Amino acid sequence: MATSTPAVRLRNVYKAFIGQGRTARPLLALEDVSFAARPGEFVGLVGPSGCGKSTCLNLLAGLTAPSAGSVEHHGAQVAGVNTKVGYITQDDNLLPWRSLLANVELGLEFRGVPREEWRRRALEFIELVGLGGFEGHYPHELSGGMRKRASIIRTLVYDTDVVLMDEPFGPLDAQTRVILQAELQKLWERDRPTVLFVTHDLVEAIALSDRIFVFTSRPGTIKREYRVDLPRPRDVFRIHETTGFDDLYDALWSDIRAEIQRARQGELQAVEGSR
Ligand SMILES: Nc1ncnc2c1ncn2[C@@H]1O[C@H](COP(=O)(O)OP(=O)(O)O)[C@@H](O)[C@H]1O
Ligand SMILES: [Mg+2]
Repeated sequence: MATSTPAVRLRNVYKAFIGQGRTARPLLALEDVSFAARPGEFVGLVGPSGCGKSTCLNLLAGLTAPSAGSVEHHGAQVAGVNTKVGYITQDDNLLPWRSLLANVELGLEFRGVPREEWRRRALEFIELVGLGGFEGHYPHELSGGMRKRASIIRTLVYDTDVVLMDEPFGPLDAQTRVILQAELQKLWERDRPTVLFVTHDLVEAIALSDRIFVFTSRPGTIKREYRVDLPRPRDVFRIHETTGFDDLYDALWSDIRAEIQRARQGELQAVEGSR
């Protein structure tokens, strides 16, 4: 069977951060982390806070370098800032002095797309997420959900083949989150980029992902891999009613709970030891 090169891959990656302050002990954030995403795959990354999920995305974006191991994008080592991947974080990062349309066009401008194509493509994506009519509005005139839509399409508009998303819906209310999940699913099915999606919301991870990697608590490593075999397209509004959802949710949650407990015991032992 032919095996295609993964879109992104971490191979035996370690990441240590230099400690700060007087006690400057180095902190091992990632320990022997290996995982890959196939082209067009939607991969969820979940795990306790501080386990190194954001660090993995930063490595793939080339914003930081591994201490050991390799970080690859289509088989090539990531060296320096990787401008070929899109990165969407909790902050919408819209420029306040540019209209919605001009903010979305910015992504195309940066990528060297011919000027005459900017408007057409930007408007197409604005329509796609139901923001038609708001293209002349400035970020402060838009709701949190609208700004988030704008920041997502600003990245997806330039045909990036890999999109890194770090708790993108974190600050939004529960209803807006689910609506945006549905829209993200629609956008993903349209062009099928590879997505690495970090979330602490296990329902969201199940609703969107093809596979989910669960991290251990720090130092982060991959504890388990789950395949999400729920049929597509998925009704994210009723995902909890889908056959197979409950078992997957329980398994994920029990993995995470075990990791949180393990981390807490480690902390207690450290405190005891220092007495
Ligand atoms: N630039 C940095 N300098 C020092 N420590 C860092 C830095 N970035 C992350 N860390 C530490 O590495 C660990 C993993 O962080 P992070 O990847 O942000 O975790 P997560 O996203 O899973 O919550 C944390 O303990 C965090 O404090
Ligand atoms: Mg994080």
